[in-house]
Amino acid sequence: MLSNRGRKNSAGSNPLVTSHFTAEADPWHPQRNPEGYINMGTAENGLLYDLLKVKFDRTAAIPEQLTHYTDMRGNHELRKAFAEFYSRGLNSRIDADRVVFSTGSSAILDQLAHLLFEPGDGILIPAPYYAGFDHDFRARADVTPVPAYLSGADGYKLTVEILDENLSRASEDGIHVKGILITNPNNPLGDVYPPSLVLDIIEFAKSRQLIVIWDEIYRHSIFSDVPFTPILNLIEGYEEHVYVVYGFAKDFGLSGFKAGALITANNDVLKAIPQLTYFACLSTSVQHLLHEMLTDYNWLQNLQEENRRRIAQAYHTFTGLLDEFGIPYHPANAGFFLWINLRSRLESSNREGEMQLFRKLFDTGKINLSPGAGFHSLEAGWYRACYARSDEYLAEAASRIGSVINSG
Ligand SMILES: Cc1ncc(COP(=O)(O)O)c(C=O)c1O
Repeated sequence: MLSNRGRKNSAGSNPLVTSHFTAEADPWHPQRNPEGYINMGTAENGLLYDLLKVKFDRTAAIPEQLTHYTDMRGNHELRKAFAEFYSRGLNSRIDADRVVFSTGSSAILDQLAHLLFEPGDGILIPAPYYAGFDHDFRARADVTPVPAYLSGADGYKLTVEILDENLSRASEDGIHVKGILITNPNNPLGDVYPPSLVLDIIEFAKSRQLIVIWDEIYRHSIFSDVPFTPILNLIEGYEEHVYVVYGFAKDFGLSGFKAGALITANNDVLKAIPQLTYFACLSTSVQHLLHEMLTDYNWLQNLQEENRRRIAQAYHTFTGLLDEFGIPYHPANAGFFLWINLRSRLESSNREGEMQLFRKLFDTGKINLSPGAGFHSLEAGWYRACYARSDEYLAEAASRIGSVINSG
């Protein structure tokens, strides 16, 4: 019954999504459900609800005009408030008409894939990369993600040479790579790229005439004092080829809102994209709440400071516990996930061994960690653990990981 397109999606959700929802259906609680699952599989920020609730409780009723159809890019007031918010720290201000809202960063990526790439074109992405990108680019637009593999052996150092080598490999394989996708701060590594590297990547993209999609969804979740370089400060002369993607799922702890935004200077895309956001227009009730948040400066500043402080604390708690269990990890400066190395605990040092340990952790330990294969990790044995949770939750998590890996 399904069309060829439909059949491509009929395999259902990827295993990371399935394990997330299995774990969420039976969640751990110290008293009410001590045998429930510990879910570290999904990058959700569980540290902010008390602050969000204060804002929700104070938000005025939805005005009548927001009960009607609105601008398919998001209403002007919201785009203006967002442009001001995002312009802080930039050399020049963003015009509200260069901002487009849709239902999540993933929706924006799907729309960019559709508007900018031909089916079969490739997009180069340093790997390990956020597992959802495969779906975002493939599901409807049929764009091929091309991993540029980084290695754990040298601390996952990203260089232009690695990008170039993987670009050549793709071209030998017959893939026409039209763009590059960078996530800074990075998921799953938690790295923040230094200004010199950001500049090198842009120069590389220019020299190879690649479209640049730059995902900054974790830009306000940097919890150490490393410098962050907003991409919009470094693209002079290449503005029309750079697409900045942001979302409220992470820094604001609002994954359920599915709110994402695009910033671009490309007039062709700005003209075409409302035809697609029409199908994925952000609900006006969410627009209303976001507008209230972005224009309440004291509340917003407090949210951002608290977010950084709370993530830093969770990071130190969780890494401290892993240190006690002798579990190595890639040190992070941002995000709320840790890329941990259980290679020495695999029965066989390959993908099968990695999946076997994942199953053991999930079925026996009732703890959900995401295996590196889903992120296109070069070496088997790495897992991503999302830790934006209470200290009590993290203590239970570490103790479960410890008892599974030490159980032989
Ligand atoms: C790097 C990155 N980009 C995009 C997304 C998708 O975000 P949204 O929920 O706004 O679609 C995620 C979610 O984990 C992510 O980590």
